[in-house]
Amino acid sequence: MLGEMDLVDRLRGIVGADHVLVDDDLRAGYETDWTGRWAGTSKAVVRPGSTPEVAAVLRACGEDGVAVIPQGGNTGLVGGSVPRSERPPGSQIVLSTRRFDALGEVDARAMQVTAGAGVTIGAWRAHARSCGLDAGVDFAARDTATIGGAIATNAGGSRVLRFGTMRRQLAGIEAVLPTGDVVGSLAGLPKETAGIHWPSLLCGSEGTLGVVTRARLRLIPHFPETATAMVGAASVDDAVELLAALRSGVADLDAVELITPEALDLVSAHIGADPPVVPPADGVLLLIDCAGHRDPSDDLLAVLGSSPHVVGTAIASDPSRRARLLDFRDRITEAIAATATALGSPTFKLDVAVPVTHLAELMHTAREAAVADGCRIIPFGHLAEGNVHLNHLGVRDPEQLAATVLGRVAELGGTISAEHGIGVAKARWLPLIRSRAELDAQRRLAEALDPLRIMNPGVLAP
Ligand code: FAD
Ligand code: MLT
Ligand code: ZN
Repeated sequence: MLGEMDLVDRLRGIVGADHVLVDDDLRAGYETDWTGRWAGTSKAVVRPGSTPEVAAVLRACGEDGVAVIPQGGNTGLVGGSVPRSERPPGSQIVLSTRRFDALGEVDARAMQVTAGAGVTIGAWRAHARSCGLDAGVDFAARDTATIGGAIATNAGGSRVLRFGTMRRQLAGIEAVLPTGDVVGSLAGLPKETAGIHWPSLLCGSEGTLGVVTRARLRLIPHFPETATAMVGAASVDDAVELLAALRSGVADLDAVELITPEALDLVSAHIGADPPVVPPADGVLLLIDCAGHRDPSDDLLAVLGSSPHVVGTAIASDPSRRARLLDFRDRITEAIAATATALGSPTFKLDVAVPVTHLAELMHTAREAAVADGCRIIPFGHLAEGNVHLNHLGVRDPEQLAATVLGRVAELGGTISAEHGIGVAKARWLPLIRSRAELDAQRRLAEALDPLRIMNPGVLAP
């Protein structure tokens, strides 16, 4: 085992002294996660600027038995992007991809672009739009979350209904395995069947199989004409019935998001605005977003006007009114975080999905579990995917709460992680939805690619 300063000196020799942060205050911003629930101490934060530098850093850490925590924007919500609290500081480094911020020329014919892992979701979208195209994944953390992090967590967001998760945006990938070997291709061939498909294997691997350095990303047409509606429904089941009508009746449907009264109260107070529609006491609000080459308002209003499941509608097609409506959904997470900070205790987040026909039942279980615990629950999420974010404040017994809710999710044929990933937060609950054989095979695969077991220890590992 090389001496501690030997490794830091070696890392300085690889990436340059300016990009090896060892001082406490310089490392601090990289060592606590966005929710404030996970924090650890690293030997150093290392910021490589090229793929060969990433390879050399991984080899050096492997030789020294030091774990590597890949990090992009550090907006992950499951504890996978910061040093492990239980590990000694000298046993782990953070590998930041922020210097991988290059965006290639947009190829309008192939509808593709190459982006560095450190490019933000917002920069990817702005680059596409500067060429009359658009990005298929969008979510509120767009200005900080990175391409590499979104690939590692297979991020979803609000356009999954129409364009899929990050997995579907991947036309190619370049990554460095823990051994320092570079894999993948950025050619962006729409069709290829020639052995391991690295984008598929690495998307959702949460930094446990290697470091994504660049990606070839699909682009979508930019639909300039938008219509956004805030709609009340008397129950989740009514909202699910309306979803069926929207999916079959509105060709330009982008998103159908779910806002419960608990979330609406919090976000309205946080942004200082009253919602134009208030749901019935046991009801919900939907935020329906449409985008097309021609104004989708008429299609949307025709479906809403003929549905018996709508109790109140506000629609906007001009950009400023639309932005104000979207704020009621986009800013819920920050509203919860602000409340958690004021309470002095981190939010306890569950990110679950069930078949939409079981969503009402799941939310009933979740609310009952919150009452039993005595905590405050703020549910919201992505209705079309049956994905609800159960945010809890003031939880007394998180283990019991999670066991009750995640157990019911599994019984309903759902998943304990819809889009945030497993991280360290949910690793111990994986056996609820993965068999012993699957978990053993996953471990063997990780050991094959990471024989020294340096990549993001504890993540995805029950
Ligand atoms: P980080 O937090 O830095 O890392 C996340 C994980 O990816 C870690 O395990 C890390 O080790 C790994 N990783 C990061 N970069 C790489 C790389 N280059 N190679 C290999 N592994 C890597 N998520 C959604 O899916 N949908 C949403 O709607 C959504 N909304 C959000 C709203 C807010 C306000 C916030 C704070 C977060 C939200 N998130 C959402 C969660 C988060 O933004 C996503 O998980 C995002 O993909 C994380 O990107 P990041 O660059 O911040 O990754
Ligand atoms: C969202 O949909 O806003 C995100 O997934 C964030 C969250 O769950 O807090
Ligand atoms: Zn979400």
